[in-house]
Amino acid sequence: MSSEPQAGPLSRRRFLGAAGAAGAGLAASALPARAQAPAPDPLITEVQDWNRYLGEGVDKRPYGTPSRFEKHVMRRDVSWLTASPESSVNFTPLHELDGIITPSGLCFERHHGGIADIDPANHRLMIHGLVEKPLVFTMEDIKRMPRQNHVHFLECAANSGMEWRGAQLNGCQFTHGMVHNVMYTGVPLKLLLAEAGLKPNAKWLMLEGADSSGMNRSLPVMKALDDVLIAFAMNGEALRPEQGYPLRAVVPGWEGNIWVKWLRRIEVGDMPWQAREETSKYTDLLADGRSRRYTFIMDAKSVVTNPSPQAPLKHKGRNVLSGLAWSGRGTIKRVDVTLDGGKNWQSARIDGPVLEKSLTRFYVDFDWAGQELLIQSRAIDSTGYVQPTKAELRKVRGVNSIYHNNGIQTWQVRPNGETENVEIA
Ligand code: MTE
Ligand code: CO
Repeated sequence: MSSEPQAGPLSRRRFLGAAGAAGAGLAASALPARAQAPAPDPLITEVQDWNRYLGEGVDKRPYGTPSRFEKHVMRRDVSWLTASPESSVNFTPLHELDGIITPSGLCFERHHGGIADIDPANHRLMIHGLVEKPLVFTMEDIKRMPRQNHVHFLECAANSGMEWRGAQLNGCQFTHGMVHNVMYTGVPLKLLLAEAGLKPNAKWLMLEGADSSGMNRSLPVMKALDDVLIAFAMNGEALRPEQGYPLRAVVPGWEGNIWVKWLRRIEVGDMPWQAREETSKYTDLLADGRSRRYTFIMDAKSVVTNPSPQAPLKHKGRNVLSGLAWSGRGTIKRVDVTLDGGKNWQSARIDGPVLEKSLTRFYVDFDWAGQELLIQSRAIDSTGYVQPTKAELRKVRGVNSIYHNNGIQTWQVRPNGETENVEIA
């Protein structure tokens, strides 16, 4: 893909767009740069194959897939990051997406022991420990309980983890792609717990997966009684195997690790379990040797997805800057964007639903004269919290950390449109 500003013949869209806009009397600066007279374009003057021949019938795609021209839109992994693909991660192609919902097939995956292949007829969820009545639910039992729909982001605590010591990975897919945003359907965990009856000293739950890693995490009862869902569907259909089919925990606003997939067991206790994933992993080693633990909530964060290293600027004149913002503490109130490395800031235009603990889409419609840009975005959430710079974060947290990096990202756009991951002092 060329990243040079385009100088080729005018496309049909460009020609019609320019004529239409001129007719509507828009200011010249709002128009894309254009040549004096359009060259004859065979895409306008000649009938194309798809316009001449019958297309495929309705019997060919019982389950639809994207256009064959969209094959580059895919999850990608970084082979040197992990020792094996079974205990690994791939990344959401944020730079290829729009709106706020992540298509199910593009949600990043993070597994500690590969994808469990579970027949829902043989799946059980057990609730036991400090309860009046230990219970075992089948999938059918769960689907006969009152259900709810909620859109939430899931961000792995390790998202942007490679960037603590400086700019590393060249693409927002890799720096920020351990996040997805999905509509879940499920049963509030508090209803399941009410059936079992919590004993008065019940303070913590242990959630355990049925995958080969048997991954487990401790969850405070207070959160479980607040907004945790036990979900069986995403984006209107059954969970995908990689997202925990047939059952996963949805823990809104909290780090992805605690969203246990292939959920099979909830034990009720009075203390946290000190599991591997909350002691040796997913804790933040500070500069003075102490460690932050049980830092569940993902603080406000944002990233410009376009332009970005995998999505360079290709045209001078009119352009759309696009990005995502989210907060584990509520909604996104405002997103500020700078194009000149922080000298001038403007409020981005937020478009689409602004939901609790959900990705929120923002835009800046701007004119580019071909100068170097240093692009940053800064999220402000409904609690008034302002996304920090990386320097501010490092002052408090040092550079030992892998997790919980919500610092401001910088993209440098060069005069030829190429875009790179950089840091500015
Ligand atoms: N649950 C089980 N059972 N096994 C796992 O490996 N990985 C966790 C969490 N739940 C994991 C799990 C981690 S670290 C994250 S970030 C999320 O699932 C990733 O969810 P996703 O694969 O749907 O993106
Ligand atoms: Co994770």
